[in-house]
Amino acid sequence: MGEETECSASNTDGSNMTDESVKYYTREEVQNHNMSKDTWVIIHDKIYDITSFMEEHPGGEEVLLEQAGADATESFEDVGHSMDAREMLLQYYIGELHMDDRKKESKKEVYITTSKDAKSWSTWLIPAVAAVIVGIMYRYYMLEHKSS
Ligand code: HEM
Repeated sequence: MGEETECSASNTDGSNMTDESVKYYTREEVQNHNMSKDTWVIIHDKIYDITSFMEEHPGGEEVLLEQAGADATESFEDVGHSMDAREMLLQYYIGELHMDDRKKESKKEVYITTSKDAKSWSTWLIPAVAAVIVGIMYRYYMLEHKSS
């Protein structure tokens, strides 16, 4: 279509836009490519122009058309595509979803990682404390039996 704006990779929002050659598209721009002769989809924040793949898709053209111009990540993953299918994606890659349009999940991930760390810490600490208490109780028990 040609009206896409190449978002500057040197913006100042502090995100990882370091590669100057990468093209960034907004969701709105992707939405314009929602027909069988011009089909883009978003999968894991990457943009793919799958126009030439529509007729070849083993799962049929129809399912792809339903996702045209939209985020197909969930449908793509739900099907459980093979590694071959994932590798095929590479040839249709045209750019990245603009940072402002990505779902803000990074904070959640950090939170999950932190709580996981805390969990693994407590998994060994509780048995260790329990072992020490049992040890002390055992010593007292033995001492009492020796003296009586
Ligand atoms: C856009 C990138 C996609 C590529 C490159 C792709 C590629 C493939 C490939 C190679 C297969 C054969 C099985 C396999 O190797 O996993 C397949 C099957 C399938 N795909 Fe996709 N696919 C894409 C997107 C989608 C999406 C977005 C959907 C759902 C909305 C979908 C639905 C299916 C279904 C239902 C099958 C199973 C067909 C069957 O077993 O009869 N695909 N796809």
